[in-house]
Amino acid sequence: MARSQILLLCFLSLCIGLAFADWNILNQRTKNGLKISLKNYCESWRMNVEIHNIRQFEVVPEECEDYIVKYVTSTQYKVDSERALDESLVYLSTSCSLKKDGRDAWIFDVDDTLLSNVPYYKNYHNGGEKLNLTSLEEWQGQGNAPALEYSLKLFNEIKSRGLQIFLVSSRREYLRSDTTDNLMKVGFHGWKSLILRGPEDEQVSVQDYKAGARKKLISQGYRIWGIVGDQYSSIEGLPSAKRTFKLPNPMYYVS
Ligand SMILES: *[C@@H]1O[C@H](CO)[C@@H](O)[C@H](O)[C@H]1NC(C)=O
Repeated sequence: MARSQILLLCFLSLCIGLAFADWNILNQRTKNGLKISLKNYCESWRMNVEIHNIRQFEVVPEECEDYIVKYVTSTQYKVDSERALDESLVYLSTSCSLKKDGRDAWIFDVDDTLLSNVPYYKNYHNGGEKLNLTSLEEWQGQGNAPALEYSLKLFNEIKSRGLQIFLVSSRREYLRSDTTDNLMKVGFHGWKSLILRGPEDEQVSVQDYKAGARKKLISQGYRIWGIVGDQYSSIEGLPSAKRTFKLPNPMYYVS
């Protein structure tokens, strides 16, 4: 193909891309004509993901990939996470009358709640591509995910108050020993049970699977005081907990 034809093709696909985007890069305006920067656009996308107006996105908008990587590796991401976890401690200290009979319980997610997938996202995930479960699981199987430091502090604090900690993860059962090794290597010890997805749980949505896990715990007599998770599918659905705490995660969405 001649160079001019390639250039023309590039130009045409750029035009098509722009015509369908929410935001017009050339004019730097929203649909309603408000003049904004790329940062404005991506920040509002991220914020609307967190407050659950934007749901079930398969990929981060291509033009926001760099912005999202910057965010999840920034101090702001840490501050946002710490704030969410601080609020759960406030709740625990002021609003929970624990019975201390061995049935007070707390639930954590694993991925991007206790262990960080940010290194995978940053290095292996190609911008604009759908999450590749095979390569993500390969990475998780290596067991080198770092701890989210502040989550580890909260985990230990909750443990020291005598609550039973349950880890309810959408990771699949075959990753059990790698996941356990990874968690212990970075400092998580003393959870009551790690609940992973068996083949039968893969027939239902992650939200239904996690609600089912809570139902079982409640039927065993546990009082679930709180859930900390980075996905709405970890905290929505019935039965839920008395309070739920959402950690930021603009990288991917699990339903
Ligand atoms: C997903 O990752 C696996 C393992 O790295 C790779 O073999 C496969 O080609 C990838 N699939 C796609 C659609 O990129």
